Amino acid sequence: MSIFAAMAAGGHRQLVFCHDPAAGLRALVAIHDITLGPGLGGCRMWPYATEAEAVADALRLSQGMTAKSALAGVNYGGAKVVIWGDPNRDKSEVLFRALGRFVHSLGGMVVTGTDAGTNPEDFVAARQETPYLVGLPPAYGGSGDSSETTAYGVFVGIQACLEEVYGDGDLKGRRVAVQGCGKVGSKLVRRLVEAGAEVAVADVDAARSRAVARRYGARVVDPEAIYDEPCDVFAPCALGGVINDATVPRLRCRVVAGAANNQLAEPRHAAALQDRGILYAPDYVINAGGLIQVADELDGFDRDRVMRRTAAIGPMLRAIFRVARERSITTLEAAEWMVRRRLAGVAALRTVYRPQGGGPANPRPGGA
Ligand code: NAI
Repeated sequence: MSIFAAMAAGGHRQLVFCHDPAAGLRALVAIHDITLGPGLGGCRMWPYATEAEAVADALRLSQGMTAKSALAGVNYGGAKVVIWGDPNRDKSEVLFRALGRFVHSLGGMVVTGTDAGTNPEDFVAARQETPYLVGLPPAYGGSGDSSETTAYGVFVGIQACLEEVYGDGDLKGRRVAVQGCGKVGSKLVRRLVEAGAEVAVADVDAARSRAVARRYGARVVDPEAIYDEPCDVFAPCALGGVINDATVPRLRCRVVAGAANNQLAEPRHAAALQDRGILYAPDYVINAGGLIQVADELDGFDRDRVMRRTAAIGPMLRAIFRVARERSITTLEAAEWMVRRRLAGVAALRTVYRPQGGGPANPRPGGA
């Protein structure tokens, strides 16, 4: 597919190619939708096999950020930065400063931070070139690791799912299978066990799952067997694409709700789960805690506010489940409908005259 055809299909506005041979930088800034405010999205560094793969990833990820922000109540749009390079080999001060200059050249239309392949320290250098950054190390004014916030959002989301399925969100005696015991998964396990759930954990890094199980009182399951584990909730907290043709028939749960991004191999797997009577919490809704945290940095970071806003993931999921029920559609379709509704509502506000001065909390570049 040509780039313009791909942008038309996804509804993207802009794709900026950034090239600085001296710095060894080849990067893309994808801007999907800025209805809600400047585009906010992390910076992924990945050794893509082809240029087309890098373009496709930047477009897909920026589109996902629009939806995530829209339903997290965040007043930022959807954008993503992709550096085409090997994070283990190609990082340098100059590369990140060059990236910072390109981000700055967009005049605040895009704000970026860490994602797969980049870490908060990388952006300390970029800070010399632009203020349009989030997720810096706390010593440089950032809010620090977001995994605790993400885990909290997933926890309240699981409660909302249990309430939908059983009429009671209490975790006491409920069985949860957590796939992945990394930064988010391990913190989710802690919260679940504290709430009285029986937790099974799996990780391809066996030492990690053993350590988490011992520390919090969970049971270790083989990573390949986690899909067959009889449970109330299957919580994917590792990789994307784990809900697919091979795994859906194996699941023995009533709910799929976890932190991993892009859990569904394809959108049609939302219907496949529904057909099996399994409630799916759309991943970009339930895992929005990290985004809520970094977006809050732009308003002057306040941890209590972040946790309060993350707790709103519960009511948001309940609203999605209600729309899905009322319209006989999947929870994914219901979430997409609610994204479109928020964007259309905010876009229509521009038809109401607002005089200049006493501007909004989140001024839009260009003053639109
Ligand atoms: P992490 O890298 O700390 O942990 C991932 C864990 O999954 C690792 O322990 C890894 O060994 C394990 N793993 C990988 N493949 C596996 C498999 N096939 N079976 C079982 N375990 C496997 O990553 P983190 O930060 O905990 O994130 C987890 C997921 O949540 C990712 O998909 C991430 O994109 C997503 N996410 C994370 C956020 C955050 O605030 N850290 C925010 C939103 C989404």
